[in-house]
Amino acid sequence: MTVHFIGAGPGAADLLTLRGRDLIARCPVCLYAGSLVPEGVLAHCPPGARIVNTAPLDLDAIIAECVAAHAAGQDVARLHSGDLSVWSAMGEQLRRLRTEGIPVTVTPGVPSFAAAAAALETELTLPGLAQSVVLTRTSGRASAMPEGERLAAFAATGATLAIHLSIHKLADVVAELSPHYGADCPAAVVYRASWPDQRVVRATLATLEAALGDGVERTALILVGRALAAEGFADSRLYAADYDRRFRPNSALFPSGGASSDG
Ligand SMILES: C[S@@+](CC[C@H](N)C(=O)[O-])C[C@H]1O[C@@H](n2cnc3c(N)ncnc32)[C@H](O)[C@@H]1O
Repeated sequence: MTVHFIGAGPGAADLLTLRGRDLIARCPVCLYAGSLVPEGVLAHCPPGARIVNTAPLDLDAIIAECVAAHAAGQDVARLHSGDLSVWSAMGEQLRRLRTEGIPVTVTPGVPSFAAAAAALETELTLPGLAQSVVLTRTSGRASAMPEGERLAAFAATGATLAIHLSIHKLADVVAELSPHYGADCPAAVVYRASWPDQRVVRATLATLEAALGDGVERTALILVGRALAAEGFADSRLYAADYDRRFRPNSALFPSGGASSDG
């Protein structure tokens, strides 16, 4: 018996890995984080599966479900939204399951920042503008931010920021970032990326709050950075005609050996 942690993706039922889908289809028990995991993903559960929404349960109750399934020899599909590597509460469950001697596997999912970037049809890293993406959040009731991880500290790098769990603090986010990025810096909010009611708002730090208006309270990402609306960036060297790389060596194009092979 195994508890299979599965990233259920950002919302659309077809943004699930084939491995995740197949695991769900063969587990007689499915525990899902009901506040964000779409019902459509549950359609992959086998007929007669025990399907439990864990949103109202505490950690003890969730582990008790796993222990009961373990005793019955039944595999469990444990679904969390997006990918499991960020803000999934998987860490504390893994720790308890290891103490109980219950085997686990972890199957990644499409994270919400990637779905938001797709909705924006944007690459978050562009040559000369941003080569790092910071996945972060602001302090919440469940988790305080460590002292070194203030937004201003990340902003000082100029990286593209993908700010989770913070849409209700948009004014504070804008105020903290504006001195670093400038009020004219491109910014966006993507609400419920990949869901049928997805909403995309593009603006600048100065205009984002007004452009968003009221009514967006949860399940939204704030993205900030010069890469978001850039057109005037340099091409990367990757596809440059004279760039020598393993899968397209210049030596094949110029057999006389005249081309450089550095890079
Ligand atoms: C508890 S975290 C879960 C993050 C998830 N593990 C992931 O990989 O994206 C929930 C936050 O992720 C963001 N989020 C999750 N799904 C989203 C979606 N479909 N569209 C926009 N933001 C989303 C929101 O900022 C939300 O407050």
